[in-house]
Amino acid sequence: MQGDAPTASQPDLSVDIAGVRLANPLMTASGTCGYADEYADFVDLRALGAFVTKSITVSPRAGNEYPRVVETRAGMLNAIGLANVGLEAFLREKVPLLEELDLPVFVNVAGSTAEDYVAVAEALEDVAVVRGVELNISCPNVPAGGIQFGIDPRQTEKITALLRGVCRKNILIVKLSPNVTDIAEIAAAAVAGGADALSLVNTLTAMAIDVERRRAILANVTGGLSGPAIRPIAVYMVHRVYAQVARPAGVPIIGMGGIQYAADALEFLLAGATGLAVGTALFVNPACLAEIRDGLCDYLRGHGHASVNEIIGALDMEG
Ligand SMILES: Cc1cc2nc3c(=O)[nH]c(=O)nc-3n(C[C@H](O)[C@H](O)[C@H](O)COP(=O)(O)O)c2cc1C
Repeated sequence: MQGDAPTASQPDLSVDIAGVRLANPLMTASGTCGYADEYADFVDLRALGAFVTKSITVSPRAGNEYPRVVETRAGMLNAIGLANVGLEAFLREKVPLLEELDLPVFVNVAGSTAEDYVAVAEALEDVAVVRGVELNISCPNVPAGGIQFGIDPRQTEKITALLRGVCRKNILIVKLSPNVTDIAEIAAAAVAGGADALSLVNTLTAMAIDVERRRAILANVTGGLSGPAIRPIAVYMVHRVYAQVARPAGVPIIGMGGIQYAADALEFLLAGATGLAVGTALFVNPACLAEIRDGLCDYLRGHGHASVNEIIGALDMEG
């Protein structure tokens, strides 16, 4: 349809995330699709607007002890602990795979110190396929995994401003934790520090107990809850951040937390998200990306919209 103007019968799904054009709002949620290689045979990556990698740290990390994943009634708990191949192996082995995707790539960056984040983000400036850095200041599963930067507004602004100076080619996306009293306060700090976009939410700290053994199921004791159980909380947080911070500042939101069906994705769009990341649902139904994309098209067509942009933040707050 290139060259044709979008119409209500052929709606345009493309969105703009701080200057990066995506064919549709859908992306992988960091950590749930590795570096694209593990899932290429199952997930139709062509249904995506962008690919978001697992967190990368300067040095390789083995992650936490097993068991580090447990299914819950409406979601899952994970305490992976930022297991990853490290910056050097990522650049050498994973970047060539990402180059084959023909998609904009956002690399999720984690660290224990500000210097760690800077080192990874600096190296990513030289990688053409990478279009953005997603700053993970919200991992709940490691003792010094950056969440200290994500729960205090002063620290959030400071680390964002530091990375702002490093990210020249790449856009700077700050990924927020829901494990705070007021997520809008942290979002405002990230925007004050120069964030180009905000991702929300990361997982909610939670735990599960084996009652026979009277022990926590996860070796790490606590983990991060994701999936359908957290969706209404995530929708609320996107709505709150959009209304109080993102819309006034003109900063796009990438919404995530329990998106599995087109109806879920629509909730996030109406609440104010421009991008949509899908994580846990990929473990249940790897085909869900194409289903969500097609469902979005059907909704837009059914409601006479020519573009998905017409429904972003279109929540009716009157009476
Ligand atoms: C197994 C697993 C691993 C994850 N690893 C990361 C990670 O490395 N970095 C990160 O920022 N978020 C990570 N997340 C959080 C997701 O990116 C996402 O924010 C969260 O799971 C909510 O989305 P969902 O309900 O669609 O999974 C992980 C989530 C899961 C389930």
